[in-house]
Amino acid sequence: MTSATRYVLSDRDRQAVLRKAWRIRATWRRTAVRVGLFQAVHGAKVGAEVPLVEELRAHRSEKILVPRIKVTPIPGGVQVEVRAVGKLGLEAFERACDDLANAWRVRFVSVSPGKPGRLRLRVTLKDALRNRTSFTPSPDDVVDLRAWELGHDRYAAPVSVRTANVSGIIVGGLSGTGKTALVRHRFAKLAPCPHVQFALIDGKGYELEDLALRAWLYAGASIEDAHRVISKVYTLFETRQDQIRAVLGRKNFWDGAPVTAWPFIKLIMDEAHWFLFESKLRDDASVTRDKLVREMIRMCGDMVRMGRALGIQLMFLTQKPTGEAVPTSIRDACQIAMSFAQRSTEAAKAALGEDIADYPHAHPRRLQDPAFIGVMTVLAEGRSGYTLVRNPFTSDADTIALAEATAHLVADPLALIEYAIRGLHAVDDDALTA
Ligand SMILES: Nc1ncnc2c1ncn2[C@@H]1O[C@H](COP(=O)(O)OP(=O)(O)O)[C@@H](O)[C@H]1O
Ligand SMILES: [Mg+2]
Repeated sequence: MTSATRYVLSDRDRQAVLRKAWRIRATWRRTAVRVGLFQAVHGAKVGAEVPLVEELRAHRSEKILVPRIKVTPIPGGVQVEVRAVGKLGLEAFERACDDLANAWRVRFVSVSPGKPGRLRLRVTLKDALRNRTSFTPSPDDVVDLRAWELGHDRYAAPVSVRTANVSGIIVGGLSGTGKTALVRHRFAKLAPCPHVQFALIDGKGYELEDLALRAWLYAGASIEDAHRVISKVYTLFETRQDQIRAVLGRKNFWDGAPVTAWPFIKLIMDEAHWFLFESKLRDDASVTRDKLVREMIRMCGDMVRMGRALGIQLMFLTQKPTGEAVPTSIRDACQIAMSFAQRSTEAAKAALGEDIADYPHAHPRRLQDPAFIGVMTVLAEGRSGYTLVRNPFTSDADTIALAEATAHLVADPLALIEYAIRGLHAVDDDALTA
């Protein structure tokens, strides 16, 4: 089949891809020179000033070296394989990506290392991050405690993070960008499992209330209530530290399957700054409040640092996770960090670390367009760099229905462990009397 026939037989999206591929191929030399991806034989620096057309003409054409490319249409875009020459390596192409996207009039160009001596450019015509998706949970879903499928990336490929051996998740993002929706997604992914117990703390007091019937513990915006919830989870944390060998029979929750006496504990604190921010005011009410805040900070810090092997996982959500909103003692111990849109570099760095500055394409500042509500940048142990992910939306009606259908799974993990300890002692007593 000739390429013309193939074109005629293709659907519209595919035709756009084929046209783009031809265009990229046909104009490559000119484009490369225009964006500085060439090498003059006399060793001009990459990205050095682009020669004027007259200068180019003055040179004989072989004095300008342009990397050779191979263009292949792929679903939703075009792949360009580049043979790296001289100083034109990964860095030079990374710098040129935005200019290439403009020159080719496409949404997005990214580069990654290919086979030795080669680079792979990915040219995206349609950015899958802009496609809103939804997730419909069912009480019969099989739950994987060890991974969380967060959504899909720019190329519509699914993205998961490892949640085994994770004690802390920190999430930042401007108001209205999808943090609470992410909480409901996490809830929906975990609720069908009988070995999961929730402690929900809801800084607004009305956003997670409808999930309370599937939660072991729930607190609204009251500092006293939140303190009570955290203290309860902390008691469990201490009991588990003492009893892990005896009851669980191993040193790490994640080294085997969950057992009834030892459910996975998911503590979620939405609008965390409300609970973890010390006012430092002198009036009586503030002094009392600050004391509770300091205790919550200490307990949460201990659990994030030492709760991993005990099967306790905390998730903090806040608009701007700077040190005064979520103390760094807690924030920096979280193995997974995520950020929805942010306005300032400072806020992005607070959530995702200093390195985000080196990944402009994944920067939360670029997510401020309303089309990116529900899109976040994710940094997780075991993944390289930062990944942009579109989180699917789970409707309130679906999460409420799920909470109702799984409400019977609520059990008090303190009672479960005490029951197990008593069982062990009963065996000891039997042994003594025998
Ligand atoms: N993943 C998503 N996909 C589509 N729409 C979303 C998504 N997340 C949030 N939204 C929309 O944005 C609104 C605000 O989201 P929310 O999670 O409450 O933001 P935040 O908690 O960050 O203030 C939601 O009511 C919903 O309409
Ligand atoms: Mg919210």
